[in-house]
Amino acid sequence: MTYGMIATWRMAYDGVASMTEALKNGEGAGTALVEAIKKVEDYPFYKSVGYGGFPNEECILEMDAAYMDGDTFDIGAVAGIQDVKNPIAVAEALSHERFNSFLVGAGATKFAKQAGFDCRNMVTARAKRLWELRLEEIQKHNLSPYDGHDTVGAVALDLNKKMVAGTSSSGLFMKKSGRVGDSPLSGSGFYVDSEIGGATATGLGEDLMKGCLSYEIVRLMGTGMHPQAAADQVVYGFSDLLEKRKGKAGAFSLVCMNKNGEWGVATNVEFSFAVATEKEAAEIYLAYPAENKTTRIEVADKAWLDAYEARIKKPVD
Ligand code: GLY
Repeated sequence: MTYGMIATWRMAYDGVASMTEALKNGEGAGTALVEAIKKVEDYPFYKSVGYGGFPNEECILEMDAAYMDGDTFDIGAVAGIQDVKNPIAVAEALSHERFNSFLVGAGATKFAKQAGFDCRNMVTARAKRLWELRLEEIQKHNLSPYDGHDTVGAVALDLNKKMVAGTSSSGLFMKKSGRVGDSPLSGSGFYVDSEIGGATATGLGEDLMKGCLSYEIVRLMGTGMHPQAAADQVVYGFSDLLEKRKGKAGAFSLVCMNKNGEWGVATNVEFSFAVATEKEAAEIYLAYPAENKTTRIEVADKAWLDAYEARIKKPVD
């Protein structure tokens, strides 16, 4: 019997650390994952997830989230939900529905309100000001608005061998109203099978959904491949394929864990992630694409962590 959790980006660390302790003490994977993602959604300085997330081109925060149960394959998801404090909790609730388990836009928001989920204005003054500054910059320098998209995605394994996966994201910065990324899409943003393992993605949704990369990693782990080998094969293979077929590949990164608590990560850009297992204390790592379609992984040092903290809290104006 073992346990563990892996999640995308440094922002997931606090949830991974506290909820892995809970898993050690017998907490279920579902509760642990939802609570870990809620921590990210609630923290106002993370500008790509939940409260404080960067709004769309109309300055409205539209959020996507999903939850999958690896025992039953039940999935709940929301896309373009507004004014709801914890989209991951809504996704988890929807995963128990036999029908209507993936809701979008006004329907998703209405469901959350009627079901009594906490609602609030999710656009902070800081996010609004950053959005205004970004808009000015885009117009002044004729830049592409689509820069950065850090979804929190997590996979958890509990002592009862149950595995779950979940995601939460405010999506692509300056996205069009109604745009949906990979995060709520099964197979692309996440996938989990408790008898094999789970995977989840962050990065450019428009490219991630072309390859169903989370499903593909789980499928390869199911053939007995180690999670690191599976992640490397899928991420670098698909990134190269996009380069060949389309001339470019967007930035993307995937993390995965198998039913034994072994994990892997692969990325085509610098990428931070957090992981903790029965054998390894919670840690923040940095991953980089390396030679021969492999991934270099190192512990994030104090200088990196300090620079990160300063960057996300940098005063605006
Ligand atoms: N990966 C998140 C998105 O593209 O919306």
